[in-house]
Amino acid sequence: MTNAPALLEEQAAASPSGPLLVVDELRTTIHTPRGDLRAVDGVSLTLDRGEMLGIVGESGSGKSVLGRTIMGLHTTGPTTTIQGRVAFDGLDIQQLEPARLRELWGDRIGMVFQDPMTALNPVKKIGVHLTETLRKHRGLSRAEARDRALELLAQVGIPDPRRRIGQFPHEMSGGMRQRVVIAMALANEPDLLIADEPTTALDVTVQRQILDLLDRLQDELGMAVILISHNLGVVAGRADRVAVMYAGRVVETAEAASLFRAPHHPYAEALLDAIPRLELPPHLRLDAIDGAPPNMLRPPPGCRFAPRCRYAQDDCVATMPTLAATPGVPDHRFACFHPVHLDAPEPAAPTADTAGGR
Ligand SMILES: Nc1ncnc2c1ncn2[C@@H]1O[C@H](COP(=O)(O)OP(=O)(O)OP(=O)(O)O)[C@@H](O)[C@H]1O
Ligand code: SF4
Ligand SMILES: [Mg+2]
Repeated sequence: MTNAPALLEEQAAASPSGPLLVVDELRTTIHTPRGDLRAVDGVSLTLDRGEMLGIVGESGSGKSVLGRTIMGLHTTGPTTTIQGRVAFDGLDIQQLEPARLRELWGDRIGMVFQDPMTALNPVKKIGVHLTETLRKHRGLSRAEARDRALELLAQVGIPDPRRRIGQFPHEMSGGMRQRVVIAMALANEPDLLIADEPTTALDVTVQRQILDLLDRLQDELGMAVILISHNLGVVAGRADRVAVMYAGRVVETAEAASLFRAPHHPYAEALLDAIPRLELPPHLRLDAIDGAPPNMLRPPPGCRFAPRCRYAQDDCVATMPTLAATPGVPDHRFACFHPVHLDAPEPAAPTADTAGGR
């Protein structure tokens, strides 16, 4: 391995003002006893500072593996091969020494996962979780760390922080625990927060509160967020941009308003149709897409969505479509030979009156 600190300085100097995150042709192959599984298969995306990107797709589409590879939790070794590149603020994640990577996680990249208990130690009080990370990364004294911990708990909407700080995780509800995990992730004011299904384990009312909290904190702190969900409805109204994943690949990506108004990939269209429509009685809601995603050990040739696609034609099974820009809307890209809603008008650019009104 090259001299990492020198490499870091060089890379940081090389791109002080580019996008915060660049993912370039990323491939994460997991070597299983049954063969090589291409969990992430050629994903490219960028994320600007302060931007929220929603990554959406069904179970098994590779969202979590993508998120974990971006963080450097998957590295090339006996069980996994990584190809392509992830650059975080100019730093090549795959090239970083493990110690430097760990520093980056606490300091500049925060993470929130589905189950808050995976991030919390059941035998440590809430205050200890927070003060440990503050003292380690910020070098605060015990008293300073406690003050900051109380501030953070208040910031994530935990009532009575002075009482809560002395409690153990099992003394809190799931929603409160997830708020603590968010407070931990925010302790060092990261540039990027990766939230992987942060609300799936919570009931519907609490889900909304936690998502609104993330949204508010993103605005307040100006951090970039990757919000991963199997539900397009979760990212609607929150993400600035959306990437739809299917079978390890991004099949459509656009400004959120553009994608919600006119999805061009049939899978994105189907996901949009699957958002529960609250105004309909439950028996009329479309909750799922017929069929199942492909076996990623042996994905079908051509378009991976073809076996489930109602628009599929002969060319779809012969060749794999690649991401291409929508005519006139270069930011709206889709991978499909027979796109839908191409003639739908794009939403007007936000004006001073409409911007920020989500
Ligand atoms: N450690 C592992 N060993 C073997 N296969 C794995 C491993 N982790 C993930 N996979 C496989 O990689 C593919 C992508 O998984 P991933 O967890 O990224 O999906 P996901 O989109 O996050 O799904 P979900 O919505 O259920 O969280 C799946 O086929 C999964 O079975
Ligand atoms: S390329 Fe063909 S099979 Fe794939 S999504 Fe488009 S129309 Fe459907
Ligand atoms: Mg997942």
